This record gives sequence, structure tokens and C-alpha cells, in this order.
Amino acid sequence: MPADTVPSSGAPAHAAVICGVGYWLPPHVVTNADLRTRLGTTHEWIHSRTGISSRHVAPPGMATSDLAVEAGARALKSAGDGEVQALVLATTTPDRPCPATAPEVASRLGLTGIAAFDVSAVCTGFLYGLATASGLIAAGLAERVLLIAAETFSTLLDPEDKTTVPIFGDGAGAVVLRRGTSDEPGAIGHVVLGSDGERSDLITVEAGGSRQRSSGRPATPEQAYFRMQGREVFRHAVERMTMAATAAVDAAGWRLDDVDRLITHQANARITSVIASELGIPPERRAQNIEQVGNTAAASLPVLLAQEAADGNLAPGDRVLLAAFGGGLTWGATTVVWPELTSAHGADEQ
Ligand code: UT7
Repeated sequence: MPADTVPSSGAPAHAAVICGVGYWLPPHVVTNADLRTRLGTTHEWIHSRTGISSRHVAPPGMATSDLAVEAGARALKSAGDGEVQALVLATTTPDRPCPATAPEVASRLGLTGIAAFDVSAVCTGFLYGLATASGLIAAGLAERVLLIAAETFSTLLDPEDKTTVPIFGDGAGAVVLRRGTSDEPGAIGHVVLGSDGERSDLITVEAGGSRQRSSGRPATPEQAYFRMQGREVFRHAVERMTMAATAAVDAAGWRLDDVDRLITHQANARITSVIASELGIPPERRAQNIEQVGNTAAASLPVLLAQEAADGNLAPGDRVLLAAFGGGLTWGATTVVWPELTSAHGADEQ
């Protein structure tokens, strides 16, 4: 957990501070019209139920590490000089079950030798990664950490499933965190995290893990695909993200009125809208990119954060509230006062 308490000396506590951001989306775009014939769906259904018009999809042969390297390189460039001592990769779609993808990403970024490992918390992965990276810094194990969230969710989907294919897209976002103090812009606030394993069935891929392998029965093709009970997940997503966001704002000592920018996991435009209404945050303060990007799982928050920075929608001093929800079930939220960055790489380098 990040050190957001004030030590007895009265000096501000050490904290992880954002000093670079970046993102990357595979160039290939699939529109709702492209899915119409294949899935028997319509643009009207997808757009009215989710807010999505198109999504980026990795072509055959492109893996999560490929996206992660692109986003990571942009975040490192945005951060400027300074060595990183650890790379945390949040992903549910690693290149392979073993070993973790992070060491390969680190080596391809010229960082062979640093600590590198994966964190798996589905769509909440970026916030779990943020808490992990903050912990490495607070414990004195790293001065700088590269946190990447990268997903190729398209590789998990049943190509004939109209309830999931239109929703998910591929992408990667990244931040560089440096050791700083809790009172400076960019310091990550208290990270609220939670889980409920009793409802792990709501978002799942049944095959490929030890449960299925130890059964001695080969997996059916259906078990290898991602399944989601959308309607019930919707209800949990609204409830949990609203609760976590409120707790994060309380921990920061803010009022909900103080929030300049609400950045929620882009699962469904209707979910963002309900949460924002419940929190009393007006539409002009809600960031949204779901229309062009869809749900990119763990990558959702950092892609939107980096796009907002690149597009000039985040001014230094803005109070930003981040919230996410995903399979597990897992959820989380945190706050950050937006820092002055030398450059926010992303859109110009797509
Ligand atoms: O990222 C992790 C967190 N994920 C989420 O938070 C996702 C939360 N859930 C959702 O966003 C929504 O539940 C969905 C967008 C996934 C689905 O929307 P919905 O309004 O809950 O629809 P539904 O699943 O209840 O389905 C309603 C109907 C069904 O037909 P019947 O059974 O009423 O005849 C579906 O078969 O809509 C049908 N349907 C579609 N029809 C045309 C489902 N998907 C499609 C489609 N095109 N793409």
C-alpha cells in the first residue's frame, strides 16, 4: 500500500509519483459494421447498449508483449532520464502461461537485469499494479518503476459470441513512477482495493489452468474462451466502483465536488454514466474513450489517462479520480493531483 500517512517527524511521507505516461493501440480497427454479418448484430445494438463504435484489434502473430513494449517505450521517453529498477506488467492475457511476460518485455526495452513480474487482476490490474509499484518504492526496493498494463483480449474471445466480441479491444498503457513525497503533484494517493472470489464465475476462462488440467480431461473449445454474465457484472461494477471511488476521495481528504476529472474503467458508457451520476460528477468532468477503443481490460485506465494527458485534457493541479472493476471479482480506486510532465507521449506516435 502506498505510504500516504505522515510520519511522526511531521515531514511528508515517501510516495510513488507519476513522472511519465504512454500508450499504444494496434493500428487495425474493427468497426461495428465489420461485425454485423459475422455475428448477426447491429451498430445500433452495440452503440446504444455500450457506447462502442469501434475497437483496435491485434492482428494474428501480435502478442501482449508486443503492445507492452510499445507503450512502455513511450512512457520511458515521456519520463526522460532516470533508471528504472523494476517493471510490473498488469495483464490477463500473458504471451504464455509460463514464464511471466514481464521479463521478456524488460529485456526488449533494454532493461535486462531489473526485477520484472506480472500482476493478474483482470480489468482492475492497473490499480493492483499501481499499489504493487508504490509498495516497491515505499519499501525502498526501487527508486523508479515502469508499470505497464497490456492486453490482447481479442485472443480470448469466442469469435462467434456476440455478447463479448463487440465489447473488448486490445491496447496497452504505461506510467513511470518515481520516489517522491505524498504532498507533491503526481503522488499516488491511498489505493483502495477489494475482491470477492465467491463470484469468480461471473467473468471466467475455464480451461488452461490447474483445475482443468488436473481433471485429466482435455478442454473443450468452449472452455478455452472468455465468458461473462454481463447483466450481473454490470450491477456489481456500478456498486463496487462507486463505493471504492468514494473511499478513495475520503482517504485523500477531498470532497466529491473537488474532482476535476473522473477516469473509470471503460467497460460500458452506461456504467460510467451511472457511477458519475451517483457520485454527482457532471458530464464535462468525465473522461471517456470507449467509443473508439472499447473495453481493453487492464489497459483501459492507463490508455485513457495517457490519451487525456496527450490531448491536453489534464492540466497540472487537476484532481483526478481513478476507479476500476473486473473479474475475480476485483475492484479499486485511487486519486492523484495531475503533475506537470515534460511530455505525454502517445497520440502523436501512433
Ligand atoms: O470489464 C469487466 C467488467 N465488465 C463489465 O462491467 C460489463 C458489464 N455488462 C455490460 O456492459 C452489459 O451487460 C453488456 C453490454 C455486456 C450486455 O448488455 P445488456 O443490456 O446487459 O444485454 P443482455 O446481456 O442482458 O442481453 C439482452 C439481449 C439478449 O437477447 P434475449 O435473451 O433478450 O433475446 C442478448 O442475446 O440482447 C442480446 N444481445 C445482442 N443482440 C445483438 C447480446 N449481445 C448482442 C449483440 N447484438 N451484440
